[in-house]
Amino acid sequence: MCGIVGYIGKRNAYQILIQGLHRLEYRGYDSSGVAMIAENGEMNIYKAKGKVDALEHYASNKDLSGNIGIAHTRWATHGEPNDVNAHPHFSQSRNLALVHNGTIENYSVLKEALSQQGYEFVSETDTEVVVQLIEYIMQTNACSLFEAVREAAKQVVGAYAIAVIEKSNPDRIIAARQSSPLVIGVGEDDFFLASDATPIIEYTNKVVYLNDGEIAVIDRTEGLNVYDINSNDESQICITELKMSIEELEKGGYPHFMLKEIFEQPKTLTDCISGRISADGSQIVLSGVIEHKEKFLNANRVIIVACGTSWHAALIGKHLIEDFCRIPVEVAYASEFRYCNPVVREGDVLIALSQSGETADTLAALELAKSRGAFVFGICNVIGSSIPRATHSGCYIHVGPEIGVASTKAFTGQVTVLAMMALLVGQMKGLVSDEKLQKVASDIRRVPALIQKIFEMNDKIENLAKIFTYAHNFLYLGRGYNFPSALEGALKLKEISYIHAEGYPAAEMKHGTIALIDNDMPSVVIAIKDNVYEKTVSNIQQVKARGGKVVAIVTEGDEIVASLADYVLEVPEISECLTPLLTAIPMQLLAYYIAVNKGRNVDQPRNLAKSVTVE
Ligand code: F6R
Repeated sequence: MCGIVGYIGKRNAYQILIQGLHRLEYRGYDSSGVAMIAENGEMNIYKAKGKVDALEHYASNKDLSGNIGIAHTRWATHGEPNDVNAHPHFSQSRNLALVHNGTIENYSVLKEALSQQGYEFVSETDTEVVVQLIEYIMQTNACSLFEAVREAAKQVVGAYAIAVIEKSNPDRIIAARQSSPLVIGVGEDDFFLASDATPIIEYTNKVVYLNDGEIAVIDRTEGLNVYDINSNDESQICITELKMSIEELEKGGYPHFMLKEIFEQPKTLTDCISGRISADGSQIVLSGVIEHKEKFLNANRVIIVACGTSWHAALIGKHLIEDFCRIPVEVAYASEFRYCNPVVREGDVLIALSQSGETADTLAALELAKSRGAFVFGICNVIGSSIPRATHSGCYIHVGPEIGVASTKAFTGQVTVLAMMALLVGQMKGLVSDEKLQKVASDIRRVPALIQKIFEMNDKIENLAKIFTYAHNFLYLGRGYNFPSALEGALKLKEISYIHAEGYPAAEMKHGTIALIDNDMPSVVIAIKDNVYEKTVSNIQQVKARGGKVVAIVTEGDEIVASLADYVLEVPEISECLTPLLTAIPMQLLAYYIAVNKGRNVDQPRNLAKSVTVE
């Protein structure tokens, strides 16, 4: 949430900052801005409400010189999205400019105190308070920017990643982090700074992840030095080599990242499985699980914490782990878990499931569980992100950067890893026979090809979307493994088309929700051939009897449902526990095409951001 970029070196900073903002736009896109120290020594700040294109347009006739700068793309928390509240923010004397990702909880107390010292505020943001505080400390203590940022970091309460530049010292960027991510790219003779590695990768693959409680001094001649904010001890700098490629960050000819990411799933799931299932399906290797085998074998229970789409994948994970490992599993919204004084003990295994690895609530939930003695395990996508670094062990889903705000390939990657994990632990516990393991693991290996086959229905789904583009409400029904799929199908539609949609357990519908069914309320019913197939067929009949339109997602060749439903989308047969990997695909495409028909901004839906690093 909010994206920060910074550059210091010999090149023109502006192009690098703008390109970086475009790469980070998925983190927030209601306004953006840049601050640069120009060749004439002036510090210029340019800001604009709206997307980064608006900023480029605004800045096009301005002085864009300078080889040091910071930039920001915003997802508003304090103060409406407008030019004034956009970052960077100047200090009172205009000697400092600062960008911030996170929220400062004690900003009103600090603002009041600074106001009494004569500081005037132009924006409604918590961020402006930080830059004014730093300037106040510099002036009253007659200290350097580095010392003032360090002192200010001790006084602010909340989450922050900040970067500050100083007009009177155009050779340094000071950056600090607490609970919001910051990555520093180390080039040949320059440095890059960003909220994640995506703006950096085209310049260098060498990065340093700043840890919580660290402050970095990035100096043109002295290079990079990192210190502990509290002790001031110098931290050891650990350079990581990134394996990400620039092609992964481009649309590759697709009109939207979301469509590219949907169509990428055969490849991303192949990458996710690669090296983890033997060719004959007889063996699963997840080193993060195997190295901590005892924790899983002795687990009293598993708790999975997650948000949004990841929470839906977690619900499928519960079915998988309970089915194969016979360990009780609780699934919690991370935002609820962290504040409900949960009973967590030694012997519990907590899985934090997160695409970005940065979701603030999920990170806080895992820290809480860790402090109460649980073994914490992360399943994430973004390599080097905060959650994998805070856990005892974990597995990456390896589906590559997901840029579209609506999660697609990360969902199927999460379910795939959870399936492999459940099979492996079940086998280690002696509960999954070799035959069963081989059958399901071989089926996991078939998933990429089966998804490719589902894409043959693309045109059919595109046409179906035309019929439903103007629906105001949708119901998504599913049971068992596919009840979470129904929730996920509904979420996809809501977030990108802004059509109200509700996911529901198909049989539960008759206890109230059925009252909503009429000719104007289409239902997407997942009616694959599973252990409750006949019951789902009756649920379809109940909807039809009340005049509802039904789009059924069925197992290939199902003539019974075909004779009942208005429209049928077929998916190939596979082990029941893996069906959510297939049923997700037509629902992703349906949501996508409906949103496109409605003219929505599919990759950047209103009010959303990809990486939710605030509470
Ligand atoms: C929906 C979506 C969100 C995320 C949620 C958690 O399409 O993308 O609901 O799933 O914000 O994000 P992560 O998985 O990064 O923790």
